[in-house]
Amino acid sequence: MMKKLVKYFGVAATLWVLTGGANAFAFHANIYEPRVPKEMLEEIQEIESPYPVARERIEAGRHVYFGKGLCVTCHSKDGTGARIPGHSPRNFTNKKWQEARTDGELMWILRNGSPGTGMPIRVGNVISEEEGWNVIQFIRYLGRK
Ligand code: HEC
Repeated sequence: MMKKLVKYFGVAATLWVLTGGANAFAFHANIYEPRVPKEMLEEIQEIESPYPVARERIEAGRHVYFGKGLCVTCHSKDGTGARIPGHSPRNFTNKKWQEARTDGELMWILRNGSPGTGMPIRVGNVISEEEGWNVIQFIRYLGRK
């Protein structure tokens, strides 16, 4: 009996850590709440892409999304999000969420991931800064559809 209980709690604890439970206090259940820490939010919000919106960049962003960025595995083909353990990936077709974020905040997420969730670091890890701005143009495009 005791052994079984210990095993059960071991599994539960492992799951808790894997799904980001250890950082739960840093995570916002409300998807509209900024992910960028408060003390730097204003500064990050003002950062703009150096690249004007262009069809070629949206297409390049699409390649990153379906290719080496691996975004599609969690965010799904149409951007609404796949079912994964832990916190749900963002639904990029949500217009209210699109309006709540600046490009600077999206770049911060690509550089830092979203602590306490499955959202991994992408820029500087698997994609370049320019590819990051391109994929942000593609995310905005998904939001306009
Ligand atoms: C392993 C799964 C996974 C992969 C791969 C992934 N994401 Fe995410 N993403 C998530 C999850 C989970 C969230 C929700 C995080 C949260 O609520 O803070 C998220 C959230 C986001 C957000 C929203 C953050 C915010 O401010 O609300 C953006 C933007 C984003 N991802 C972009 C991308 C891009 C672009 C890629 C590919 C380059 C990518 N993600 C790859 C799981 C993933």
